[in-house]
Amino acid sequence: MKDLKGKTAAITGAGSGLGRAMALAFAQEGMKLALADVDEAGLSGTRNLVKEAFTMKVDVSKESEVQAFCDRIEKPYLVCNNAGVSTLGAAWEQSAGDWQWILGVNLWGVIHGVRAFVPRLIAQNEGHVVNTASVSGLISPPGSSGYNVTKHAVVTFSETLLHDLRERGSPVGVSVLCPAYVPTGIADSERNRPAGLAAAPKNEITSAREANLKKAVASGKLSADDVAKAVVAAVKEDRFYILTHPRIKGAIQARMEDILNERAPRDPMRLG
Ligand SMILES: NC(=O)c1ccc[n+]([C@@H]2O[C@H](COP(=O)([O-])OP(=O)(O)OC[C@H]3O[C@@H](n4cnc5c(N)ncnc54)[C@H](O)[C@@H]3O)[C@@H](O)[C@H]2O)c1
Repeated sequence: MKDLKGKTAAITGAGSGLGRAMALAFAQEGMKLALADVDEAGLSGTRNLVKEAFTMKVDVSKESEVQAFCDRIEKPYLVCNNAGVSTLGAAWEQSAGDWQWILGVNLWGVIHGVRAFVPRLIAQNEGHVVNTASVSGLISPPGSSGYNVTKHAVVTFSETLLHDLRERGSPVGVSVLCPAYVPTGIADSERNRPAGLAAAPKNEITSAREANLKKAVASGKLSADDVAKAVVAAVKEDRFYILTHPRIKGAIQARMEDILNERAPRDPMRLG
């Protein structure tokens, strides 16, 4: 069981939702906090809730900004690469701007975080990395190809990171967080779209899917605080996969069976 008291947690996307809830949960464990987000107002809101934290405006899609965040932290122990956005649309409909944006935040953000922090954790011979993926990193729901691509990539990146650390005899821990719908600001990601990365025009199917996503996220049964508690437990117990919504396992199993039986994948949203 890892003791987190007095150690430092660095969390990206800490201005809202799961990142804010993780900040609160790790503060309750007696950890010091270093919090990053593009949204400065959100960051101040989180800092007010946790009372004390180092905060920094960081765009995780930019290597130099993630590196500067890492450089400002004296002795990071826990790194939560959590910032994320969501875009919708079929693969061919999403604009190049959509693809660049979501790959930049959801995948490059995690890569930059690992490249900046992990060498320091290895040198300290202790620490833990939590990468936020999604159930969309384990199954492929229709209509969100950009999101699915980034989250599947974060899952395999995290698995490979664990293997690479162990191959080199490092005890640094890794977890990958794969939640289903949780009420946060994720369905309102457009607020964070950078100027210059244009969205694709919305058609009827995408507009309907957007309305469904907003509803599903808003009515998620587990709260961000519940998910944050699960993350704390997984870090303490050094557990890799954090599957907060066990009902999703049927869809994961169906995907694996389709692969092993070499048949076309069933739509995970229509499995009954
Ligand atoms: N809420 C869900 O249903 C759900 C389910 C599975 C996975 N996730 C993942 O959880 C993570 C957190 O999302 P959330 O649900 O808390 O949503 P959220 O919108 O409430 O929080 C995301 C945070 O990331 C920040 N952010 C966006 N772009 C950024 C950038 N370029 N650099 C730095 N920060 C940036 C936002 O300002 C925001 O504070 C994401 O990776 C998301 O994909 C969420």
